[in-house]
Amino acid sequence: MNQSVIHIIKNITSANSSRSLLQRFIAYSFRQSIRCKFKRFGDRPVGESLKILDREYRTDEWTNIPDKVIDLIERHDPLYKTPGNPIYLIAESLRQHYTDFECFQFRDPVVTTWQNFDSILVPSDHVSRSKTDTFYVDKQHVLRSHTSAHQSECFKRLANTTKHQALNDPKFMIIGDVYRRDEVNRTHHAAFHQAEIVQLYSEQHCRMATTNLFDESNETRTDHCQERHNLNAIRIVENELKSQVESYIHLMFDSTDGDPIQMRWVPAYFPFTHPSWELEIQLPRNKSTNDNGEDLDKSEWLEMLGCGIVEQSILDRDGHSNRIGWALGFGLERLAMLYYAIPDIRLFWTRDTGFSVQFDRLKPFERYRYRPISAYPQKIFDIAFWLPAECSEWSANDVHAIILEIGGHLVEQAHLMDEWTRPKDGRKSNCYRIVYRSHERALTNDEVNRIHHRIEQALVKELNVEIR
Ligand code: PHE
Repeated sequence: MNQSVIHIIKNITSANSSRSLLQRFIAYSFRQSIRCKFKRFGDRPVGESLKILDREYRTDEWTNIPDKVIDLIERHDPLYKTPGNPIYLIAESLRQHYTDFECFQFRDPVVTTWQNFDSILVPSDHVSRSKTDTFYVDKQHVLRSHTSAHQSECFKRLANTTKHQALNDPKFMIIGDVYRRDEVNRTHHAAFHQAEIVQLYSEQHCRMATTNLFDESNETRTDHCQERHNLNAIRIVENELKSQVESYIHLMFDSTDGDPIQMRWVPAYFPFTHPSWELEIQLPRNKSTNDNGEDLDKSEWLEMLGCGIVEQSILDRDGHSNRIGWALGFGLERLAMLYYAIPDIRLFWTRDTGFSVQFDRLKPFERYRYRPISAYPQKIFDIAFWLPAECSEWSANDVHAIILEIGGHLVEQAHLMDEWTRPKDGRKSNCYRIVYRSHERALTNDEVNRIHHRIEQALVKELNVEIR
């Protein structure tokens, strides 16, 4: 806005009595322009119906969810359940490491503000409750901003089944998509994933046999221990929590030539655990880059998870007053980005098969370094042919060898898509799908056609097939 307009507006707003129509119009336009400027992404008209996963809500002045975020929720295949996705592989690696932990998944990310905040003792004036940090569906509902929102529900469910079973103390894991209002860039995304892992212990638990969990004479909370807790028992629980996490991080990040990854525990604060810690790891120099793709200094420490001893008032309320325990929360994207050297958090959401094909066949804990996919479009061509009548020597590897020899680095993927045997004479047919793509430019149909045709000719000549 230029200076003279500001000057006019200043004059109008200071002389607010008996304003002319023109003055009122200018003042109104000014208010509107401010409103537009400060209207937040995701604000919606009040009183509209809003549907998320078949549940209906009514928007109010708290609603701030953009359609794009609803699209992410409604994606029919959550990433943590999609085998070709690194998030799935990381979730599986945690499940394998934390064996016998019951796994809960809550498909619907809409929770009440009580679940997301009050159930885990988040103070009423905590910043995480603000509209700028959290997606509100309406005044009473939010998109969970962490998997801790479901702790209470899990505690209550397990309270009934494990009431009198000391040797069957609850241990569980919650894997889910979580949502936070944040800038979107290579390392931040409105939606990401967490694994919440929790273990409780009762006095009779074998590891606890030597000590009492509670010490009623302990009336004051210290940096190391909640009131009523017995410090010796807490030390055992803390040790279990930390050693299980450390062994997982070693499995994931120790270098293949035997160099152990460096870790450190840093005191932290969470409303629902005390004492609390964060684990930081130090990455080998060549593995870590910052937002601009520059190498980070070796002394750079990276936060990996938050954890702590569960606040006793939560356990007392949810049916486990005879137990103590630990809880931790891992960010799955961060683990995946480090483990597979994936440079951009948005890639987890891509439907580009050049990405998923790299993870399709990997097993959890199988080391792999992501190869950047091209920014240019794919060209997808199929080849169908009859195998030679006499094909006892037939090998699919020969087909792949010919495709690669002719297509070279323009072939991104090639796979056998379909096999068929003609009933009348038993003749076999194969169909291969070839995905062409260049890292340097967009390929034209004509040039791909020419390469594809040469591959067909070579298959005929070398392998004696008959193109269909
Ligand atoms: N919910 C916390 C977060 O999102 C992580 C956490 C989980 C911390 C469990 C302590 C215990 O940051």
